[in-house]
Amino acid sequence: MAVSFTWLGHAAFSFKIDGKQLLCDPFLTGNPLAAADANNIHADLIVISHGHGDHIGDTVAISQRTGAAVVCTPEIGNWLHKQGVHNTIQMNTGGTYDAGFVRIKYTIAFHTSSLPDGSYGGEPMGMIFSAPEGIKLYFAGDTALFGDMALIGDEEIDVAFLPIGDLFTMGIDDSIKAIKLIRPRFVVPMHYNTYPPLVQNVSEWATRVNNETSATPIVFDPGDTYTFSA
Ligand code: NI
Ligand code: MN
Repeated sequence: MAVSFTWLGHAAFSFKIDGKQLLCDPFLTGNPLAAADANNIHADLIVISHGHGDHIGDTVAISQRTGAAVVCTPEIGNWLHKQGVHNTIQMNTGGTYDAGFVRIKYTIAFHTSSLPDGSYGGEPMGMIFSAPEGIKLYFAGDTALFGDMALIGDEEIDVAFLPIGDLFTMGIDDSIKAIKLIRPRFVVPMHYNTYPPLVQNVSEWATRVNNETSATPIVFDPGDTYTFSA
């Protein structure tokens, strides 16, 4: 069985796992790189890393239209309830939710988390997706480099999704250090080029990944899909 994933721009991804569609941080409306429309994108499950507007994005509208449950922190879940979204699965750092087609574990991330109206969003999260046939994906969320990425690497990550845009998250230099700690087979850059302050030279990043780490970079244009087989 294969897992495929599509970059929807910024930190938004859709994952096709076992015939189901998982959306991660679906920020589409107002996202200059958006490669999907919040009005018609399909979702079976939505996962949120933290409350910032460029991550919670269109979660309310997509969940209400599709009925997809939202995996989030309790603080974000309480906020979603106030917006009329009641189908939430709330968990916190270190917890795992088994959705059947995928298991989702929340990991630490070093960042902040507030909702668009200023409400506190709890701690920011990264996540490990465990798909059938032992395929493991690590979505770092918005984070700085941290040494415990080595523990995440001990889980034998197939594909890591790392921010490289700098300013709000780690930049290219720290992403190279992160890859050395995580030791994934493949690495996907995210959270860059969305706005002028986040512009990065992604081909230079890919060259450095090839030269300085054991991972293979996967550089997407928004809308591109990659299929990974175990
Ligand atoms: Ni953020
Ligand atoms: Mn962000």
